[in-house]
Amino acid sequence: MTITCIADLQRLARRRVPKMFYDYVDSGSWTESTYRANEADLATIGLRQRVMVDMDNRRLATRLLGEEASMPVAIAPTGLTGMQHADGEILAARAAERFGIPFTLSTMSICSIEDVAEHVSRPFWFQLYVMRDRDYIGRLIDRARAAGCSALVLTADLQILGQRHKDIRNGLSVPPKPTPRNLLDLATKWRWCLGMARTRRHTFGNIAGHVKDATNLRELSAWTASQFDPSLSWDDVKWIKERWGGKLVIKGIMEPEDAELAVEAGADAIVVSNHGGRQLDGASSSIQALPDVVAAVGQRTEVHMDGGIRSGQDVLKAVALGARGAHIGRAFLYGLGAMGEAGVDECLRIIHKELDTSLALCGLRDIADVDTGVLRPGSFPTPSRPVHSERLAEVEVAR
Ligand SMILES: Cc1cc2nc3c(=O)[nH]c(=O)nc-3n(C[C@H](O)[C@H](O)[C@H](O)COP(=O)(O)O)c2cc1C
Repeated sequence: MTITCIADLQRLARRRVPKMFYDYVDSGSWTESTYRANEADLATIGLRQRVMVDMDNRRLATRLLGEEASMPVAIAPTGLTGMQHADGEILAARAAERFGIPFTLSTMSICSIEDVAEHVSRPFWFQLYVMRDRDYIGRLIDRARAAGCSALVLTADLQILGQRHKDIRNGLSVPPKPTPRNLLDLATKWRWCLGMARTRRHTFGNIAGHVKDATNLRELSAWTASQFDPSLSWDDVKWIKERWGGKLVIKGIMEPEDAELAVEAGADAIVVSNHGGRQLDGASSSIQALPDVVAAVGQRTEVHMDGGIRSGQDVLKAVALGARGAHIGRAFLYGLGAMGEAGVDECLRIIHKELDTSLALCGLRDIADVDTGVLRPGSFPTPSRPVHSERLAEVEVAR
């Protein structure tokens, strides 16, 4: 199969990854309207073609949280990545390092923090879910620091879990349950089975040993349902920041009021994100939410975004609307499921090439020069509300 774009990687991943794990990626919560909107709203934004300008010597390199990056892209944290392909987190972290972009490891990874750190030399970012057991969370933060992680990405939008119908229908479990349907499916996924047979990494690397018996997703869900702390608030950010002592990113911000509060709480960056449409079904797409957040806090903190990024053109649109970096979830997971490490390499190459070519065809040579001038007037979202005094009043009310 010739691979030309992320959709090709997705098609191949669908063929090679067991259905329950493929569906775990290619799904959103409830009606999946926000999941669809993330991609659909990016697609409606148009670019302005410019011609006869010198496009030689282009530059995509930038800095994300002060770190050099070969393009304004980072790998988003995704749980169970090691179930898309054996040792998935290690493979993706290596590909990101080779390409010169940040990799974020999820709390819910299969490979542990220490395991990933052993296989890369570029510091990676660690994503934190806050649980009721603050002692465990404190130790997890310490482990991330000891492993040399260069940023802590605190996910703010998963205090309770959105429901994905496909996961329930598939009886998602780790490892897959040997039901006749699953056995039939696995029989057609021999590459995946071979990889899994060769690795020892089959469970949740960061919680193994802490949560006894959490060997499958149902048990993990029970544990997380009891552990995710619905009372988590901005006051908790203080001790997290203190315990961590490094760069803090707050992920899952969709509204300017929350962006203001995140900055007040000391975030070094925020990620405009609706969790890839996996949490609040009905929330707006990330690209729609971006301009209001940038208008509110863009002068004071780095604003990143994720949700629906499937091409270099999408990255260009996000940057034009004020994102310092665009994070990719499903795009890299499809590459990983399709071809392992080579698939993540391919995903990053595709996005880089598309971004580079699109930048040139918009008449620019440096990603730093991108602004709304590259977008077709009337096709892109603009800040919907005045920024300052009213917003600050809202923040006061929200407190
Ligand atoms: C399969 C899957 C698992 C995810 N797991 C996590 C996670 O463990 N922690 C987290 O903060 N976000 C998680 N996310 C959300 C991603 O970090 C990111 O917000 C989202 O994937 C971006 O949308 P995109 O997939 O359209 O690029 C997950 C997303 C997917 C698709």
